[in-house]
Amino acid sequence: MGLSAVQLRVCLQSYWYMWVTNSITGLLFTGIGIGIAAFFMKKFRKTKAKPHARAPNTTKRSERPFSPTDINTLDNSFGTGTTGTGVIGTYAPRITSADSTNEIGLLDSSEAFAQATFQAINGFRRRYEAQPLELNDQLSEIAQRWAEHMASTGKLEHSPPEWRNLGRQTLGENYAASFQVELTGEKMVRKWMKEGKRYMFGHDGRKDTENFTQLVWRASQEIGVGRARSDDGNWWYGVVIFDPPGNIPNQYAENVHLPAEIK
Ligand SMILES: *[C@@H]1O[C@H](CO)[C@@H](O)[C@H](O)[C@H]1NC(C)=O
Ligand SMILES: *[C@@H]1O[C@H](CO)[C@@H](O)[C@H](O)[C@H]1NC(C)=O
Repeated sequence: MGLSAVQLRVCLQSYWYMWVTNSITGLLFTGIGIGIAAFFMKKFRKTKAKPHARAPNTTKRSERPFSPTDINTLDNSFGTGTTGTGVIGTYAPRITSADSTNEIGLLDSSEAFAQATFQAINGFRRRYEAQPLELNDQLSEIAQRWAEHMASTGKLEHSPPEWRNLGRQTLGENYAASFQVELTGEKMVRKWMKEGKRYMFGHDGRKDTENFTQLVWRASQEIGVGRARSDDGNWWYGVVIFDPPGNIPNQYAENVHLPAEIK
């Protein structure tokens, strides 16, 4: 038999608190469930890839540097002279004639280093609207002498002005070192180019961007390249001499141009 209406009323009246508690608990769990679901949905939406999203432009166009590490996108039409045979992207030392190889057919390593440095520098210069530089043996002797000097003293520093003036003016000089990893021409040049991230185009140079500004300096015409290794074999030192020298106060605006593709 079922409950009579009166019995039901009595039951509800005596246990009302139970019904209230149950309702509140139910609401509470529903709320928590919705909260958890919302949390995960949000998370999911955030991690979903946005294929067309772009970083917001926070800096002025003229202050935004081109990524100097992007050497692989350099066009490879540049080479020595005007024939355009250089390869920057997939760098391999060019063997141009029999006398640049030794008896066992390998490119002499200092020649390869000079060629790699030369090509990387000119590849970047092209982007910055600077004429390609010529490789000059006399300047390379100066660079080589200083690289050997640093390899013997273990000190990374500029050469004294009298070591690099050809009787005219103190020439520009960039140097780099590498520990337990061979210093290649391309690595050295990239390292210098990274300073370009700090450079404010249209302003005079800063002390910590001098390697970069010298490298792309439009008035420079010739370079010499040298490299030496310390006696213990741990350190490589690389030097590039620039003639005419760059980094002249008040001449940065004419000599250090914005990369062509962001103009
Ligand atoms: C961001 O930069 C690009 C290219 O430099 C430009 O076309 C675009 O209009 C800029 N957007 C804003 C919001 O400034
Ligand atoms: C040039 O580069 C070398 C090697 O990375 C570094 O030791 C030197 O401090 C740099 N010079 C300037 C002026 O930034």
